[in-house]
Amino acid sequence: FPPELIRNFSIIAHIDHGKSTLADRLLEETGVLTGKNNRSQFLDKLKVEQERGITVKAQTCAMFYTTDDGKTYLLNLIDTPGHVDFNYEVSRSLAACSSVLLLVDSSQGVQAQTLANYYLAIEQDLTIIPIMTKIDQQSSQPDVISAQMEQLLGVENKDILPISAKTGINCDQVIPRIIENGSKPSGLVEAPLKALLFDSWYDEYFGVICMVYVVDGQLKIGQTLISAYTKKAYEILQVGIMHPEQVVTNALFTGQVGYIVCNMRTAAEARVGDTLYRKDQPIDKPLPGFKPAKPMVFAGVFPLDSENDFDKLKDTIEKLCLTDSSVHITRENSGALGMGFRCGFLGLLHMDVFKQRLEQEFGTETIITTPTVVYKVAYADGKEKLVENPNEFPDSFMTRKNGLSANDAVAVYEPIVVATIVCPEKYFLSVINLCNERRGEQKDIVNIDEDRVSIHYIMPLNEIIHDFFDRLKSLTQGYATLDYEESGYQQTEMVKLNVMINKESVDALSFIVPKDQSQFKAREIVEKLRKQISRQMYEVSIQCAVGVKVIASETLKAFRKDVTAKCYGGDITRKRKLLDKQKEGKKKMKQIGSVHIPQEAFLSVFKVD
Ligand code: GTP
Repeated sequence: FPPELIRNFSIIAHIDHGKSTLADRLLEETGVLTGKNNRSQFLDKLKVEQERGITVKAQTCAMFYTTDDGKTYLLNLIDTPGHVDFNYEVSRSLAACSSVLLLVDSSQGVQAQTLANYYLAIEQDLTIIPIMTKIDQQSSQPDVISAQMEQLLGVENKDILPISAKTGINCDQVIPRIIENGSKPSGLVEAPLKALLFDSWYDEYFGVICMVYVVDGQLKIGQTLISAYTKKAYEILQVGIMHPEQVVTNALFTGQVGYIVCNMRTAAEARVGDTLYRKDQPIDKPLPGFKPAKPMVFAGVFPLDSENDFDKLKDTIEKLCLTDSSVHITRENSGALGMGFRCGFLGLLHMDVFKQRLEQEFGTETIITTPTVVYKVAYADGKEKLVENPNEFPDSFMTRKNGLSANDAVAVYEPIVVATIVCPEKYFLSVINLCNERRGEQKDIVNIDEDRVSIHYIMPLNEIIHDFFDRLKSLTQGYATLDYEESGYQQTEMVKLNVMINKESVDALSFIVPKDQSQFKAREIVEKLRKQISRQMYEVSIQCAVGVKVIASETLKAFRKDVTAKCYGGDITRKRKLLDKQKEGKKKMKQIGSVHIPQEAFLSVFKVD
């Protein structure tokens, strides 16, 4: 296939606007999905994706299409995830494309992620093919929505293709549009090979599989490739295209997208954004690549039964990381929860999906601690440190200027984001109130059409990761949409709350909170713990402190639940059985000093109401 006959494209849309449904249609149109393997939403392969109806990991599929004049084209559909946490995956998928289908739901209109994805496509100079879908719906407003698309997405009315991916209206015109209006790959056929590695996953049988886009030159089985990043050499053992499963082709030519299997041992070697070139054809400089995925939200992951299940958790997490290299993992040892891992995620949904995969694909139950963002702490000697675990956060900050020692913390900075919220005008005030409550700073407000506004706020990421999206949805009856983009750090006043049980500090229960909310949060935590920790044989004190200063406390009176009280003397075996049972119950508890704390107590504190 010469580049003129190749079209690499992606579908970008706001979540739920029907991207996967359209992808399925296109695969049907080109005969990739037939009766045999016809399973709706073919590209959503992971189980969580199918369950939640969202796309997490981008998939790629090749299609062939013969036009009326007898030319056969190779079309590569590169799927992109639709959720804000996965913007990173969107931009890396787009790097292999020359065009995008920009899909807008004809009743929902342009939403926060439509705009965010549109800007990503524009930045990468891609041809935009506008499509309005779901026109079969009663609530569809084709005229209003096309006007909106014209105004916000800079497209011309005559170029918008109205379709219904569900009933099939106009779906046969989508591929001809891609062929006519979409751009062809722009690489050089005669130049030395440059292949962009844009995705990878681990296969039990083949090992690491890399998806590559051949920008210049060609790639064949048996060649030796060099990674521009590590300079390591690899022999190509298998080459092919995804159609929809692996189909061996032995070579890939300029402009093509396909997979290679080479002797890479670990997923970490397949560095997304890397350039692969031939050992016998050195290149002057690698392709631009992308910024590495940066974890924004960290949480501890511990097995429920830390004594017996740690190894199992370790294996499970290692396996999961083979398919999702954007999760960042280090060991963590907690006095209260035992051995576990500190995991960094791209966002809350990413964390949720990871947790679900952990439980589902491998059957391990886990405790995940309250997520935190990465703080930047400045010290008196001018050094800065990134803190992703509350335990490493300083107990106090020095306000005086003189007489400081080098490792006195002097200031803290927190990550901030620019949030875009699109909602109907009638919810405008509630949304503004919520953003202000969450320490937001208004940037601007733009009217999208007669009854919708697009609101921009600068907000601390910490405020967004704790139930912000849920609150936003419930305040606007589900109508608001949210997207956010990281925007550096800003100085802030945060303090660390330490929880102490009988004067002993519980590391898993340290929280970083805004200074002016510390009193309220501390009260909330000790209340929750008091409700959950059952009375013990002796008095238990529950305290919450900032540094050494206790700001909230509760005391549980001594009490021994006498389980044998009802067995008036007599039957000793029955008594023993009951006592054994009580002991058994204690095993599910975490012991802090001499106090037994039930699992639920931890969970109740981690849960945000
Ligand atoms: P993400 O992968 O999470 O981004 O979602 P998506 O954009 O792929 O959406 P999906 O294709 O899963 O469709 C969302 C919902 O819209 C599903 O319930 C579809 O059945 C429905 N839907 C998709 N296309 C159409 C259409 O043309 N008409 C109607 N009436 N419903 C549609």
